[in-house]
Amino acid sequence: MEIDVGVLKELASLVYEVSGIVFKDSNLTVLESRLRTRINEKHCSPREYIQILRTNDQELRDFVDFVTTNFTSFFRYPRHFEMLRTEILPKVVQKSSEKKITIWSAGCSTGEEPYSLAITLDIFLRENEMFDWEYAVIGSDISLQSLFVAKEGVFPEKAFTKVPEDLVQKYFVKTSKGYQIVPEIAKHIRFDYHNLIYDNGLRDIPVVFCRNVLIYFDLAVQLKVLENIHRAMRSGGFLFIGHSESLIRITNMFHPQSFSQGVVYVKS
Ligand SMILES: C[S@@+](CC[C@H](N)C(=O)[O-])C[C@H]1O[C@@H](n2cnc3c(N)ncnc32)[C@H](O)[C@@H]1O
Repeated sequence: MEIDVGVLKELASLVYEVSGIVFKDSNLTVLESRLRTRINEKHCSPREYIQILRTNDQELRDFVDFVTTNFTSFFRYPRHFEMLRTEILPKVVQKSSEKKITIWSAGCSTGEEPYSLAITLDIFLRENEMFDWEYAVIGSDISLQSLFVAKEGVFPEKAFTKVPEDLVQKYFVKTSKGYQIVPEIAKHIRFDYHNLIYDNGLRDIPVVFCRNVLIYFDLAVQLKVLENIHRAMRSGGFLFIGHSESLIRITNMFHPQSFSQGVVYVKS
């Protein structure tokens, strides 16, 4: 069945309204394949499906979930985690008024990033003998399907090809379903359903990872999301973004600071 380009554009604008995710005209094929799957399941026409989306919030949320790009991996960009442990966390500790470190993984997908952050925090606190310090990691995403995987905390062996063997041995337990994060780490992590377009009420967060998320938004949504992240952060807090992303020319709410392993943005 031919799908009218007008329908696809309407679908793109619905997805944009709800999530801020932009589907350019050159990228409508992604939406088209997702739409085909849905109309086959629902036995309706493309136009009828758009009507369903307009009147059924749950279906719209599910469709947005369906079109999100959730690629991620453990210790993605290892230098970020190295820099966090050796250069950023010592600064956070110096400025901290309480013995607790909280990190927000904004757009955490299936959880590999927040688990990598919690493992890094555990290593940092042990190697500095900071046994009376606490830590928490908050992972948030708009994709419920991804959050289910994240909460379960069980990953296939192939997810660990780039993870040092000693870390896998120490922080995961082999089960019949895959490798499960140990409870001593899992208990420090909370997963929340959250759309970055809105304020989630977090405040005073010293470190935020929002990597490979801003690329899916246009400038207006990037600014809105960055305002929300800025509000959630502690003054002088550190924001990590993806390698292909930059805040220069977008906002001066954050300024870039160079460290030996790369650039981190600091809340101005
Ligand atoms: C490519 S993944 C990045 C995962 C991880 N941060 C990393 O770098 O490996 C992008 C994630 O952003 C999420 N996302 C997209 N739009 C969002 C929004 N408006 N609010 C919250 N999360 C969103 C997607 O669901 C997806 O899981």
